[in-house]
Amino acid sequence: MDVITLVLFLVVLAISAHLLFGGNYPNAPPCIKGWIPWFGVAFEFGKSPLTFISQARDKYGPVFTVVAAGKRLTFVTLHEDFRTFFMSKDVDFEQAVQEPVHNTASISKESFYKFHPACNTLIKGRLTPGNVAQLTDHLCEEFNDHLETLGDQGSRGLNELVRAVMYPAVMSNLLGKYNSPGSPFTMEQFKEKFAIYDEGFEYGSQLPDMFLREWASSKCWLLSLLGNMVVKAEDDETSSESGNRTLLQHLVTLITDKFLPNYGLLMLWASLANAIPITFWAVAFILSNPTVYQTAMEQINAALKDQDTRKTKVTAEELQQMPYVKWCILEAIRLRAPGAITRRVVRPLMIQNYIIPPGDLLMVSPYWAHRNPHYFPEPEEFKPERWDKADLVKNVFLEGFVAFGGGRNQCPGRWYALMELHMFAALILFKYDVTLMDPLPKPSNLHLVGTQQPETPCTVQYRHR
Ligand code: HEM
Repeated sequence: MDVITLVLFLVVLAISAHLLFGGNYPNAPPCIKGWIPWFGVAFEFGKSPLTFISQARDKYGPVFTVVAAGKRLTFVTLHEDFRTFFMSKDVDFEQAVQEPVHNTASISKESFYKFHPACNTLIKGRLTPGNVAQLTDHLCEEFNDHLETLGDQGSRGLNELVRAVMYPAVMSNLLGKYNSPGSPFTMEQFKEKFAIYDEGFEYGSQLPDMFLREWASSKCWLLSLLGNMVVKAEDDETSSESGNRTLLQHLVTLITDKFLPNYGLLMLWASLANAIPITFWAVAFILSNPTVYQTAMEQINAALKDQDTRKTKVTAEELQQMPYVKWCILEAIRLRAPGAITRRVVRPLMIQNYIIPPGDLLMVSPYWAHRNPHYFPEPEEFKPERWDKADLVKNVFLEGFVAFGGGRNQCPGRWYALMELHMFAALILFKYDVTLMDPLPKPSNLHLVGTQQPETPCTVQYRHR
């Protein structure tokens, strides 16, 4: 026992000495490391990371390092440095996310480095704007079916409503109808397990399973679900031609090791984790602003005219006739963008006359970047009109908009995300007269991974038109 204590003490001492004095980088940025070696400011930082970053930027300037639980996180807050963040050959995406991927999806290091690049290329290729347009009709049918289950009228938490409709519809669209939670019972179970997995993702990405029992058990449940889904995807012979294959079936042909279900789980998480809460925010922003709602409704009604409100058909062309609704979606994404994105510094990197040492995790916060008044005047205001300046026909966003990241690892699902949110908003508002019963909630806790969830469920009343 004494020997173990001594060894542990020496290890902690060595790590602390390395963090405190190690590395010959006198030009490193200001470092916030607290007074507890290794642990650093993990406690203060972990309570509300985004608030911490904003205060640190005011105190230490545009580039600073935070030491937390043995990690050095170097934040870059000026837009002029984002190009370096996304394009420099001295930073690496895979090395930044390998450990979190191992913790959250139990994928081995070897497998991850072997399959990840091809995985990224595959998803990017399957979800180009052209390919996404081919998924529109099926997604529209699914949305109609699941929206109809809400009944003719009622009241419900908007968050819960969005999940009940979008989870099964999107899963059917991307993983195959046979892989969408079928009965109300399996749906409830899926929602419960996925919510635990998603909410604990930030801690789960940092800590071993033994510290997070309930979260780890939800992860196991989801992995076994994905295992079954993979078998069904392999058995499905109706879609032997490549044009009919689902995204999951494409993944099945690519990953040849035992971690296939684990990649499936990551893909499923990536496709739901940001898109579903942002759908909530988009609908809530529209409903809470009468002028925005009226303008959106005028466009939706003009595009869909006398269509049946039970089986409404929204095509890609009709979506194009509702640019204002798309601006609302983009504005919701801007205001509720992910907390942070990351790269690993692999060679000394110069930013603002500082040298960032290799090994640091380089961080950019889209959430704060979108609150820079130089790029987004009146940044806290929900102003869809600002998107008039973007060239959306050419798929060009506004300057300074980084919600989907950038460079080689930019979100490969962004065109799908925009299409599904646009379609969902148009359909629910056309089919139902929806009223927000609560004030617009605040984001619950400003965390780093992914999109901020609402603080309260936010009730809506709805009546079929
Ligand atoms: C509004 C919704 C979404 C937002 C805000 C969002 C945002 C992001 C961001 C910031 C990244 C990291 C990019 C980087 O580090 O440069 C990312 C990665 C990723 N996203 Fe999205 N995303 C959304 C929806 C989706 C959807 C719907 C899918 C799939 C259908 C998807 C699939 C992925 C995947 C697979 C990655 C990892 C890419 C890789 O490993 O290289 N995302 N997303």
